Amino acid sequence: MGLAAPPEAGSGREVQRGSRAEPVPGAAPGPQTPLAPNDPALYERLADQWWRPRGVFAMLHWLAAARAALVPPAAESGAVLVDLGCGAGLLAPHLAGSGYLHVGVDLSRSALRQAAEHGVAAVRGDVAAVPLADGCADVVVAGEILEHVPDLPGAVAEACRILRPGGLLVIDTLAATALCRWLAIGVAERVPRVATRGVHDPALLVDRDVLVDECARHGVDLDLRGIRPSMIDMALWMAHRRSAVRMVPVATTAVLFQAWGTKRA
Ligand SMILES: C[S@@+](CC[C@H](N)C(=O)[O-])C[C@H]1O[C@@H](n2cnc3c(N)ncnc32)[C@H](O)[C@@H]1O
Repeated sequence: MGLAAPPEAGSGREVQRGSRAEPVPGAAPGPQTPLAPNDPALYERLADQWWRPRGVFAMLHWLAAARAALVPPAAESGAVLVDLGCGAGLLAPHLAGSGYLHVGVDLSRSALRQAAEHGVAAVRGDVAAVPLADGCADVVVAGEILEHVPDLPGAVAEACRILRPGGLLVIDTLAATALCRWLAIGVAERVPRVATRGVHDPALLVDRDVLVDECARHGVDLDLRGIRPSMIDMALWMAHRRSAVRMVPVATTAVLFQAWGTKRA
């Protein structure tokens, strides 16, 4: 199956979500200018943090493990998994031996360089205008990316467009609820190493009904489940007695949740 970009890869879409919030002082370390919430420049400033298991992106490592657990081994050789907003490729070690060609799409050049060093076929592009062919992917994952995208319907349409009929879509993201804004932004972004200050724009958190409806409109019926870090693991991790924290199911999808579904034929 071809991975070639369609000729017109420009988005041409209106920005539909996102706040015009003020810069967050202390959003990133160092003497640089403060950044607005969700400014992509944050990932360049924090480029040396991606692969540090106790760095500011530690929780992304735990989420990558939980995401990979939803991906079955490739059914045939040459199967393609497209990782939208792949960052530095933290999913790669968790897919080792699963048989996929792991293609990563991201805007951050420094993250893509690191993803390539970890075996990801790195492609620079916007998830709202993915430079890959229709139906090229057996699996599409969108982990911790939809809550960073101003054009949620556009990104969902692109994820579903590149997924082949019968292929699997796997998502994890943050819900657009007051509880999530308080917990994931108000609290977590103030706890060192749990979330990075200023990484989220509250206006971009994902409305679960919109996500489910948009995916269904593009042929993917989603199941949802809430997840959270294991508190015991977290305590042991903080005490340096565990190297990683397991994500465990939780009754509500109102904060952090996974979603998955197969594209109708
Ligand atoms: C929170 S990180 C998640 C990275 C990775 N999925 C993981 O879980 O380790 C968000 C990533 O999305 C990328 N990103 C943000 N907006 C994007 C867009 N519109 N198109 C492509 N990548 C984007 C950022 O550069 C960053 O690498």
